[in-house]
Amino acid sequence: MTELGFPVEIVEEGSIKVYVPKRGEVLPSCLPVFFNPVMELNRDLAVLALQAQQKIVGRKVIVCEPMTGCGVRGVRFAVEVKGVGRVFLNDIREEAARLAKFNVKENNVAGKVSIENLDANLFLSMYAAPRKRFDYVDVDPFGSPAPYLDSAIRALRDGGLLALTATDMAPLCGVHPRACVRKYGGKPLRTEYCHELAVRLLAGCLVTVAAKHDVGVRIVFCHSTDHYLRVYAVASYSAQKADSGLKEMGYVLHCFRCFHRETVKGLWSMPKLECPECHSKLSVAGPLWLGKIFDKEFCSRMKKELAGKRLGQTRRVHKLLSLAENEVDAPPTYYVIDKMCDKFGLPVPSLKNVINQLETANYHGSPTHFHTRGIKTTAPSEVMKKALIETTKK
Ligand SMILES: C[S@@+](CC[C@H](N)C(=O)[O-])C[C@H]1O[C@@H](n2cnc3c(N)ncnc32)[C@H](O)[C@@H]1O
Ligand SMILES: [Zn+2]
Repeated sequence: MTELGFPVEIVEEGSIKVYVPKRGEVLPSCLPVFFNPVMELNRDLAVLALQAQQKIVGRKVIVCEPMTGCGVRGVRFAVEVKGVGRVFLNDIREEAARLAKFNVKENNVAGKVSIENLDANLFLSMYAAPRKRFDYVDVDPFGSPAPYLDSAIRALRDGGLLALTATDMAPLCGVHPRACVRKYGGKPLRTEYCHELAVRLLAGCLVTVAAKHDVGVRIVFCHSTDHYLRVYAVASYSAQKADSGLKEMGYVLHCFRCFHRETVKGLWSMPKLECPECHSKLSVAGPLWLGKIFDKEFCSRMKKELAGKRLGQTRRVHKLLSLAENEVDAPPTYYVIDKMCDKFGLPVPSLKNVINQLETANYHGSPTHFHTRGIKTTAPSEVMKKALIETTKK
């Protein structure tokens, strides 16, 4: 394929075929144009979320992917999602824009997909005016989406859906806390539930950025998978909703000694840093989002869409959506039973048995998509410990 200037190969994903740079031994980020097949699940879920949103809106939707790489995501939106009016793609790399244009033509969607070669913030700002804005913006960068949040919010219509990918898990999970504070304005914590804290730090950052523009956001879906996380949020042009969102901001306090954790709502709260269970000093994460991270209706709509779509990752998608539906009303944070059993010198029981044991102590427990050995429950750590001891006795 000499016209592209680099060797390519064909990849099938969803119901399309795209040309991607020929992969040898090199990492996806070292290719002339980025393509990561591992992100298929991320794109499958994005197709379902966009279709769910299109049905909620009930008319043709205008879609934007400001960092498109080879264009696979945008082309999939154009081909696989019903009711998509136009798709606006962009990438700062000339080779990427060229390859995306080629893939658009090859998939016969040139009539509704356009491609630009600009910086994402500049590109999004060009569509920040009334009647130019998008119904769906998908920000899928290398690393953090934080530098693009302002422009993405400004380019989103009232009621529009914003999807964000973050791959900078080291800052978000507390390996590089200063980088997390810089990017997201909140302190992370290296706890066993750091992936949920990561989602809540990104969501919190989005809520505060959107509030500056008098926009409130509702988090409708999120997932933490492999080396990245995704947050989906619906924007509402309303200062009042922005204010209510800020009220859902706060802190998670964690005891590294006894696994106690609690949440404190309010940006200006001065939490007491003594563990009520073992009197050790508590560690703080935040400010971060303490509100809901799933919307029940949105999750079931996504699941319903799964039936009508041809996806490569159907089984994983189904499992993830079912877990998400179940944890809609669960409290923030989860216990990881392996970690607790390790600390207390217990054999690791089955997740189901521990959940049953919690029920006998009148606490509800549910699995979480965040961790295969995680349990979400309102039970205090002491009750969790007892449940583990009782379960392992049986
Ligand atoms: C993770 S890749 C995108 C992958 C693509 N969304 C997909 O699903 O396959 C990130 C892309 O962002 C582009 N990029 C990086 N910085 C950018 C910027 N400031 N403006 C626009 N594009 C940018 C890179 O060239 C790269 O193609
Ligand atoms: Zn404690």
